[in-house]
Amino acid sequence: MAIILVTGGAGFIGSHACLRLLETGNEIISLDSYVNSSKNVFKAINKICELKGINHELIKIYECDILDKKSVEDIFQNSINNNKEIQGVIHFAGLKSVKESEANPHKYWEVNFGGTLNLLKVMKNFNCRKLVFSSSATIYGETNKFPIAEDSQIKPINPYGKTKAAVEQLLLDIYNSEPNKWSITNLRYFNPVGSHHSGLIGEDPKGVPNNLFPIICKVANGEIEKLEIYGCDWPTIDGTGIRDYIHIEDLVEGHKKALELMFSEKKTSYRCINLGCGHGVSVLEMVKTFEKANNCRIKKVFEPRREGDVAKTYADISLAKKILGWKPKRSLYDVCKDGWKWAKTNPNGY
Ligand code: NAD
Ligand code: UD1
Repeated sequence: MAIILVTGGAGFIGSHACLRLLETGNEIISLDSYVNSSKNVFKAINKICELKGINHELIKIYECDILDKKSVEDIFQNSINNNKEIQGVIHFAGLKSVKESEANPHKYWEVNFGGTLNLLKVMKNFNCRKLVFSSSATIYGETNKFPIAEDSQIKPINPYGKTKAAVEQLLLDIYNSEPNKWSITNLRYFNPVGSHHSGLIGEDPKGVPNNLFPIICKVANGEIEKLEIYGCDWPTIDGTGIRDYIHIEDLVEGHKKALELMFSEKKTSYRCINLGCGHGVSVLEMVKTFEKANNCRIKKVFEPRREGDVAKTYADISLAKKILGWKPKRSLYDVCKDGWKWAKTNPNGY
């Protein structure tokens, strides 16, 4: 049991992490500006907690921009004043659209890099030195070696990926500056998808989604007429792109394990760990599984390849298994069933 600050706690991954940490007896402080999320997510979290008999009063919510250092300091100070000193941080807050990062790189560097720098300064001032950071598989360069292990070359090709790689580098420097004080884990996510099995919380992207799974859901509910499949001529099993889709509940379990490890070990640590399901799934396989799980038809059409895409990527998850004692438990079928449960009942999000 610990008191954890979750930045970006209202977002897709952050909200599922808050719930999981509450379920396992932790106290949560959420910091979010709601630039890409809604406060209403906390009503849904409360509802799940009530259904499960979990004390949802153990979550405190702050509307705060991570770029506003004074407000971040106030959150740390308040927690001390309330005798609830923040003991660790999971840092989800950030911007995540590749396309937008290409059009607006300074915004991405400011929020993703500048925001993290602010957070780290405040953490140091308040002597809080346990951090889990949301990194991304997008930092890996193109490779022919699969599955992709953590020692694969880091060579991001877009500004979003570059901010993530730079934050990892910053975190290594911070760790090395006081190696006996900081414990830092960079979790490199592959493709987080699906929703909580209750269907009460899920992914609620603002604007038009770019990612495959939310688009399939929008085709299923008739909001988008058909799925445009970007390429039928990739060198893959069926010509469509292959990715590593990980159920959101498995993903947040990885965060819980990473925190538990930091709190239980005597030594400090700096680690980079992949979180994925560990195997590749093609676009057509995803569509077929979704149709089967939800007894529906997804209209589709083949289009040219999308710029910036690769044929395939999937994770080597042996390090997560070994170090965190974690492994994904949910199938692609579960992803499709749970993800659609949320999307079907919440077509307009929260
Ligand atoms: P999300 O957009 O749903 O969540 C991010 C949250 O951060 C949002 O609630 C947003 O309002 C908040 N936020 C953004 N800027 C902020 C700021 N300046 N101050 C305070 N809060 C701010 O995204 P997500 O999918 O939950 O992703 C969480 C993290 O994981 C991000 O850092 C993202 O880059 C990383 N990640 C996501 C994926 C993915 O596919 N979802 C993959 C790899 C890495
Ligand atoms: C994209 C980002 C990546 C980011 C990740 C998670 C790009 C080029 N890459 O990755 O940096 O880390 O999201 O947010 O944007 N597809 C279709 N039709 C669609 C949408 C997707 O066929 O309408 C295909 C893609 O070509 C790909 C697969 O589905 O083969 C998955 O796409 P997506 O969900 O966008 O994830 P990534 O490509 O892995």
